[in-house]
Amino acid sequence: MVLEGLRRLEYRGYDSAGVAVLTGADGGGIASAKKAGKLSNLLGELEQHPLPNSRTGIGHTRWATHGGPTDVNAHPHLADDDRLALIHNGIIENFSELKSVLLEKGVTFRSATDTEVAAALLGDEYQAAVDVPAAQRLTVAMQRACQKLEGAFTLLAIHADLPDVVVAARRNSPLVVGLGEGENFLGSDVSGFIDYTRRAVELGQDQIVTITPDAVEITDFFGAPAEGKEYQVDWDAAAAEKDGFPSFMEKEIHEQPRAVAETLLGRTDAEGRLVLDELRIDPEQLKQVNKIIVLACGTSAYAGQVAKYAIEHWCRIPTEVELSHEFRYRDPIVDSNTLVISISQSGETMDTLMAVRYAREQGAKTLAICNTNGSTIPRESDAVLYTHAGPEIAVASTKAFLAQITAAYLLGLYLAQLRGNKFQGEIKDLLADLHKTPDKIQSVLDNEQQIRDLAVAMKDTKSVLFLGRHVGFPVAMEGALKLKELAYIHAEGFAAGELKHGPIALIEEGQPVFVVVPSPNGRDSLHAKVVSNIQEIRARGAKTIVIAEEGDEAVREFAEQVFYIPATPTLLAPLLTTVPLQIFACALASAKGYDVDQPRNLAKSVTVE
Ligand code: AGP
Repeated sequence: MVLEGLRRLEYRGYDSAGVAVLTGADGGGIASAKKAGKLSNLLGELEQHPLPNSRTGIGHTRWATHGGPTDVNAHPHLADDDRLALIHNGIIENFSELKSVLLEKGVTFRSATDTEVAAALLGDEYQAAVDVPAAQRLTVAMQRACQKLEGAFTLLAIHADLPDVVVAARRNSPLVVGLGEGENFLGSDVSGFIDYTRRAVELGQDQIVTITPDAVEITDFFGAPAEGKEYQVDWDAAAAEKDGFPSFMEKEIHEQPRAVAETLLGRTDAEGRLVLDELRIDPEQLKQVNKIIVLACGTSAYAGQVAKYAIEHWCRIPTEVELSHEFRYRDPIVDSNTLVISISQSGETMDTLMAVRYAREQGAKTLAICNTNGSTIPRESDAVLYTHAGPEIAVASTKAFLAQITAAYLLGLYLAQLRGNKFQGEIKDLLADLHKTPDKIQSVLDNEQQIRDLAVAMKDTKSVLFLGRHVGFPVAMEGALKLKELAYIHAEGFAAGELKHGPIALIEEGQPVFVVVPSPNGRDSLHAKVVSNIQEIRARGAKTIVIAEEGDEAVREFAEQVFYIPATPTLLAPLLTTVPLQIFACALASAKGYDVDQPRNLAKSVTVE
């Protein structure tokens, strides 16, 4: 049953898998198996060394965050003399502090994962819970452990003392209960148990659930009884994989608040200072950097363009953004004081990998911003800053793009902090603004119907232009790319200031033009210049669709449609202004009946040059 559930969850993307079962009705023990790679590796292992039959078990397909995809780092992790097994989705933000406390208690660790720290903490709390009746001991231990955990997590645990019990907890990470006859289930989503029951219970934030074959009990993290919300699952398994969305792309567009929030998790210390401890480049060398080159392709290159504005503004380091496939053929100027930052969701893009190799041969320090733990580009780089967008299944990149921009902001602020370009107070303020963006992205998503209706109305359009200025320029390019790759429509992004130097000749009656307008409260007169660009194209018959900040009335009289987004500092605006353009392209392609997850001619990872 557990293995079938993991197979059902394979679509979520993973790089290792494992199971653990309770082996005896009289508290016999725990048997487990786990392997890096695909489920088939685990199945092979289990053929060689089968686990005993059991009525109680847990399993996990892991997407590596802390610690690469290896057998040792795979879940479940054992603790309490291998009498407790734990699996975990998410990120434990304070795992290093917890680990040092446990090490002082003499706990030893086998892996590099934050999960094993959570397992050891739970084992420690279990041993300490001598004041609790045996049947509640794992539940209370889980409550006490969760009171100490920070971050985003779904945890599932079993203990050899309690043959029929599974205890789980969730905070900012998915968990759902399946109610069967004489059996009960837990899963990240209903597709894990949809073959056995369609009665499900949705859990709230910071809740603990204890299941046995005949009972489901829910409490909060402090033991107070709580209620879940029971519902009937009317999705088929395929729909369940997409959380009820029609496509992975729509699901991933709606996962963006979490992708940004999780990329921010665990990267500041208690004083609010940035601690990018996975960087592994000597801070003294980073202080010597006098030039930055960003290497990427496609959407990731547009994330690099946004990063350029932020890094140059905060760090005053000259920053070039190069298409990976152009970089090594132009005889670039690279030396040991050059920091080469590659941006890649897959970490396997051959153009970017070859460019990184070239840069290393020229003596540059290389740093990868990547969403796939243990992939080739980070492995061949001096350092890595992982985005935590989770697996991105749709070919057209959305949540990884916002997570890449977020990681680039973190890197820019870290360099500014290290090199003293910014006062600590300024960095804290900028980080505070960054932490507000997930909620702002959510509010853009909550108002998506207007842009979806526009997309359906425009489904037969033959060409769309996108204009933007400053950080809005790469956003305009990304909006055009989304429309090209999803709806197969000619689309082009321009710097708004470039209009009069040629592109305005394209404007004719009814030509749809999206304009990404900077905040009216931003610096310089950027806003006024873009408003005059809108007037110029409007005067020539353009159908102007404007993305503007809430309260910006100046754009209204020149816009056919205005899509308002929450106010945010100019440099952070791409995290919000991109979202309507993603929704537009996805909705228009869907209205044309196209497969938005697998667009024609495209691959998710371009592993050939
Ligand atoms: C984005 O929607 C495209 N799928 C494509 O441009 C992609 O961004 C590019 O191929 C780079 O991929 P990477 O981030 O995995 O390196």
